[in-house]
Amino acid sequence: MRIIIISAIAQNGVIGRSNGDMPWHIKEEFQHFKNTTSGFPVIMGRKTFNALGKPLKGRLNIVITRDKGLRFEFDDVKKFHSLNEAIEHCKTLGVEKIFVIGGGDVYKQAIKIADEMILSHLTFEAEGDIYFPQIDEKIWKVTSKEKRDQFEIVFYVRR
Ligand SMILES: NC(=O)c1ccc[n+]([C@@H]2O[C@H](COP(=O)([O-])OP(=O)(O)OC[C@H]3O[C@@H](n4cnc5c(N)ncnc54)[C@H](OP(=O)(O)O)[C@@H]3O)[C@@H](O)[C@H]2O)c1
Repeated sequence: MRIIIISAIAQNGVIGRSNGDMPWHIKEEFQHFKNTTSGFPVIMGRKTFNALGKPLKGRLNIVITRDKGLRFEFDDVKKFHSLNEAIEHCKTLGVEKIFVIGGGDVYKQAIKIADEMILSHLTFEAEGDIYFPQIDEKIWKVTSKEKRDQFEIVFYVRR
């Protein structure tokens, strides 16, 4: 099972704001995210889930939180108390791949263990205070790039 990070990152490394607002709305980028992740489990931090407000359709939504008492109003959301627990659960599902979809806190942990990354590098800077972690070129190799209107999709694999 491949663990794949997917994210959209502004030129200055910003991926979001701590109040949960998305600093941009790019329809084509969202469509790419949807097409890529549909049918596969997605793992996210509790703050990203709160920012979304509801589960993403057509995907098993897995939220990680350290809060043992946290309950979601959605029956189709799975909850785990560590990234590792969430990944171990996915291994029991027999799926080919899973996506780690953010946010900053979860990416920082997942970049240490992920097999691949699919990153949309935006062509502009954005205002925000949540950043994607540093990408170490000694660890990550670019395998291909796809240019789009306001972003470039870059595919990375662990060396
Ligand atoms: N541009 C993009 O591609 C993209 C993608 C996703 C999100 N975002 C943005 O990122 C921002 C949110 O990121 P964030 O860094 O603030 O938060 P986050 O990573 O979404 O969530 C952090 C929370 O996840 C839980 N958590 C993290 N690591 C855990 C672990 N090892 N075990 C158990 N629980 C764990 C904790 O929840 P508890 O506090 O409940 O314990 C923690 O407070 C939002 O602005 C969102 O819009 C951007």
